[in-house]
Amino acid sequence: MEKISDKMEKVVSLCKRRGFVFQGSEIYGGLAGVFDFGPMGVELLNNLKRAWWKANVYDKENYYGLDSGMFKHPKVWEASGHTSGFSDPLAECRECNTRIRVDKELDALGVSADEKMSETEINRLFDEYREKISCPKCGQKNFTSAHAFNLLVKSNLGDFTSEGNDPVYLPGEACQGIYLNYKNILNSMSPKLPFGTAQIGKAFRNEISPRNFLFRTREIEQADTQYFVKPNENKEAYEKIKQDRFNWYLSLGIKEENLRFKQHENLVFYASDAWDIEYNYPWGFDELEGVHDRTDYDLTQHMKFSGTDLSYTDGETGEKYIPWILETSVGLGRMFLAVMCDAYHEEEMDGSKRTVLKLHPDLAPYRVAVSPLLRNKPQLVEKAREVFVSLKKEFGNVAWDDNGNVGKRYRRQDEIGTPHCVVIDFDTLGEEKPELKDTVTVRDRDTGEQERVPVEKLVELFEVRCR
Ligand code: GAP
Repeated sequence: MEKISDKMEKVVSLCKRRGFVFQGSEIYGGLAGVFDFGPMGVELLNNLKRAWWKANVYDKENYYGLDSGMFKHPKVWEASGHTSGFSDPLAECRECNTRIRVDKELDALGVSADEKMSETEINRLFDEYREKISCPKCGQKNFTSAHAFNLLVKSNLGDFTSEGNDPVYLPGEACQGIYLNYKNILNSMSPKLPFGTAQIGKAFRNEISPRNFLFRTREIEQADTQYFVKPNENKEAYEKIKQDRFNWYLSLGIKEENLRFKQHENLVFYASDAWDIEYNYPWGFDELEGVHDRTDYDLTQHMKFSGTDLSYTDGETGEKYIPWILETSVGLGRMFLAVMCDAYHEEEMDGSKRTVLKLHPDLAPYRVAVSPLLRNKPQLVEKAREVFVSLKKEFGNVAWDDNGNVGKRYRRQDEIGTPHCVVIDFDTLGEEKPELKDTVTVRDRDTGEQERVPVEKLVELFEVRCR
């Protein structure tokens, strides 16, 4: 059986080799926890965002899109609880200065460290188990006690002269922009409760140990929905939202056996119930998306700190209340990684080994690749260019591939997940078989099967097969 790390290494290697993901600032030796999406990666990422937006805005009747500014008033992070409560307990190795996350180390020993624990409480647990915890770098067991290390990333926006001014932070979570605009959405769109708001936005966290490629990064893009409901009318909606989100991953072609729900044992400071949708990454099941029942915590806090009335008045009954919020939040990097891991296959085809990304056709970077059978036959190249240009005009994400022989092109397109390859051959020119004039070979990525299709039917075919 394949070793766990092998699959991860292969996915990471393919991501780099085929232009999906690069280490951030690579030519300077890299910046830990930051990644850049290359030409193939940005297409997949955009397709994921488009699919997510469709499911969470267009396919719903009562969800509104939003794109809020990243910088926010300093008080936002006080109100949200991030300046005081958004921290990891860290201890430092006295021998080599490596920092460890004490909660994660305790977790690995099967000891659950609650996020709400005080520094004293976590240190009591740490002291109990510190003999069993070694430094990952030097192997010693000589640690300082644990200190809360805040994850917010500070900026110096507007900090021209200031001493003592409140710092402006980069967002610790993207969703705060939704709470800040809840009143604006009420006033401008006049929705009735329940209604939702959807946003894709960046978040930044001073993660002490970014790890597992796109899984734990310092710069994160989060796709969030916040559903505003009447107090105590949360349970049914919460169950439905959880199931909807799970089913959405299935609709992207992720295998059901690689997904599961897990309820949080230790709740973050704002949640009254929280479930993760977990994906079976190469190292095992781990968090993909969080579905949180945040009650009225966020709006109550912002009402208190801003002094703005954030209550909702029911137009029919006149009832006034602070809505409760049901949140879904997923990091696009994790979504990307899960999709890549699920799509990655190595198999035999036509007597040779191939690596293929069996991506859902809606997600593949290229919808189709077009090739002339031979690149040194001008009539074939001319006809192939004609087909390529017309498909590109229609779809945009169409590849031209005339490198090497057709077999090699198929393998190359398999590796980046292109669902179909179109080949223009001598039959397309109709010289020997007039009945085949203006038809092309369309090869299917997953089965390798080929069919003969009239050029004029290609747009229709690819419209049906990839949305
Ligand atoms: N607004 C709620 C919130 O931010 P979270 O559980 O901290 O909750 C939500 O994050 C999602 O964001 C996670 O389920 C995960 O997909 C993603 N995420 C969080 N931290 C991340 C990190 N350091 N790197 C990559 N993705 C991360």
